[in-house]
Amino acid sequence: MDPEQCLENTSATLRAAGCVSAEEEAAELIAASGGDNELLGELVGRRSTGEPLAWLVGSVKFCGVPIQVTKGVYVPRWQTEALALEAVARLPERGLAVDLCTGSGAVAAVLSHYRPQACVIGSEIDPVAAACARRNGVQVYQGDMGAGLPASCWRQVDVVTAVVPYVPTGELQFLPRDVTAYEPTRALDGGSKGTEQLVRACQLSASLLKSGGSLLVELGGRQDLLLKPFLCELDFHDFESHHDEDGDLRAVFCRR
Ligand SMILES: C[S@@+](CC[C@H](N)C(=O)[O-])C[C@H]1O[C@@H](n2cnc3c(N)ncnc32)[C@H](O)[C@@H]1O
Repeated sequence: MDPEQCLENTSATLRAAGCVSAEEEAAELIAASGGDNELLGELVGRRSTGEPLAWLVGSVKFCGVPIQVTKGVYVPRWQTEALALEAVARLPERGLAVDLCTGSGAVAAVLSHYRPQACVIGSEIDPVAAACARRNGVQVYQGDMGAGLPASCWRQVDVVTAVVPYVPTGELQFLPRDVTAYEPTRALDGGSKGTEQLVRACQLSASLLKSGGSLLVELGGRQDLLLKPFLCELDFHDFESHHDEDGDLRAVFCRR
């Protein structure tokens, strides 16, 4: 089959399966199959059932940086890119950054990419995600939230990023079917109000950050209203709320 026909057929199959960016995805799957039609058929079949494209092709671009994403690991979202770039802007050239719940290590890898002389470390509970982050060049401490982070970090950190699970348990059912069918619940489920891990990340950040250091935390809905009073009690200030183009709350940035 000539390449144009192959792209057309593959796009049509993906479109029929409900893929929004069928042509771009088809091009990626064709490239990943390396001319092996049997493999292409398998990849298109898996994508048609909703398996994340990043797992099938093995990587995704995040802030322009290629990030490897192993099957079973949360796929970094474009909605997180603004937080990652703001973290870059706040990280001194030779600063120290901690990326809590690093997953594939996307945010940490972007920090290292744009601040190559800085020290960037990640923490992650899931061994598969931790291994994936290491493949992306991230120094990862595996454990629950900050367990295992070296004591030398305490009050020395310039920037903490925290893209933790924050979906309220009762709202998991409203996520796109592909997300709930494939991505690990542990990466998404933030407890009854969605704030269980957010609260823990903020508490830990208060111990990690040096005076003037920044916390950048992803959240949604009206979770800022729940979190800000708590952050004030922990002596955080200079709050900035980040909203996306649709006006939806995506993150809170503040200083210690
Ligand atoms: C929403 S994903 C974000 C991953 C990554 N930061 C990103 O933006 O692509 C949350 C990650 O937190 C990890 N996680 C969940 N609970 C955790 C905990 N108690 N301690 C450390 N990591 C945790 C999950 O395994 C998952 O990789």
